[in-house]
Amino acid sequence: MRSPDLEAILLVGGQGTRLRPLTLRTPKPLLPTAGVPFLAHQLAKARAHGVRRVVFATSYRASMFTEVFGDGSDLGLEIVYMTEETPLGTGGAIRNAAAALTCPPESPVLVLNGDILSGHDIAAQVGLHVSRGAAVTLHLTEVADASRFGCVPTGADGRVTAFLEKMANPVTNRINAGCYVFQRSVIDTIPAGQVVSVERETFPSLIEAGELVLGFADSSYWLDVGTPAAFVQGSADLVLGRLDSPALPGPAGEFLLMDGAVVSPEAKVTGGTVVGRRATVEAGASVRGSVLADDCVVASGATVVDSVVGTGARVAAGAVLRQVVVGDEAQIGPGNELMSGVRVWPGVRLPECSVRFSSDV
Ligand code: GDD
Ligand code: MG
Repeated sequence: MRSPDLEAILLVGGQGTRLRPLTLRTPKPLLPTAGVPFLAHQLAKARAHGVRRVVFATSYRASMFTEVFGDGSDLGLEIVYMTEETPLGTGGAIRNAAAALTCPPESPVLVLNGDILSGHDIAAQVGLHVSRGAAVTLHLTEVADASRFGCVPTGADGRVTAFLEKMANPVTNRINAGCYVFQRSVIDTIPAGQVVSVERETFPSLIEAGELVLGFADSSYWLDVGTPAAFVQGSADLVLGRLDSPALPGPAGEFLLMDGAVVSPEAKVTGGTVVGRRATVEAGASVRGSVLADDCVVASGATVVDSVVGTGARVAAGAVLRQVVVGDEAQIGPGNELMSGVRVWPGVRLPECSVRFSSDV
């Protein structure tokens, strides 16, 4: 199903602090994910569902988005950029970006958080919005722990009854999945030129005012890639084909090799790993479910699981990484074992580690 030509606003102004050090140089939406900048997956999907024109709402490192996506013609889209000098929050960003929309007030406009992988049917969401004449229609999904998200209870008719952003004791597991259809005229009611949170201000006040805010609930693949663990998971899921993406630069499978990548026949590379351009995996190394960036090296006998190895970084012989982020150009000396959540900053050199714990022998 495809809607007639739709306009979209893409929210990409966040700093991505939870993904440091990966986001020190690159905004979260541009991090290489399954071989292409993260947003390429979202944009290709949006296009497949009828979006033809996208307004990027940028702030942090705005010029990098233009360098990567230009005018959008490579993707069959028209992309324009609206930049906030200081971040205006999600609602302020939507209002600011709306100045670049071309559609009339009665048109639906798609609004996307720029850090979401989703398998849901955008065109069906737009269809529901239009057929029910809603002010806003929110994509909703269910997660085990709703406390990190916008909690969204609904009535039997799909009407949203409250919007409770990041509450300590969520009243439901149903959450805001970060993809909205707005009536253009509703966006125009958000105050201009000031910081506004769509989650904490706009949605609660629309509900309070009795406007029809609808939920489009589904249970397709969904992931917010805002943490290192989720980012690695998203990349691996795309490579494995758990979520179809028109932007995947190769067939889905256990691994994806980018141009110039060299993997020894005696290495084991599995679980949706991406091996970046000119990256090397030496004999006896084992890499599972990981993102190896361009020009990095995983030396012989090293083990890398559910981790990110940054551009030009080196993991020496026998080192073990599990759920670790290694920054660009960092060097992990032989024998180091790094676990759950460790982040190595760019350029750091960890010397050889010869200490062995008794449980290892
Ligand atoms: N332009 C602009 N300006 N964009 C912004 C700003 C801003 O001031 N602040 C945040 N964004 C963008 C981020 O880049 C991201 O794409 C999106 O808005 C959401 O921000 P996050 O920082 O990722 O929010 P979150 O993940 O904690 O929560 C949001 O997403 C959840 C779903 O993943 C909320 O919308 C929750 O309600 C929702 O459940
Ligand atoms: Mg997020």
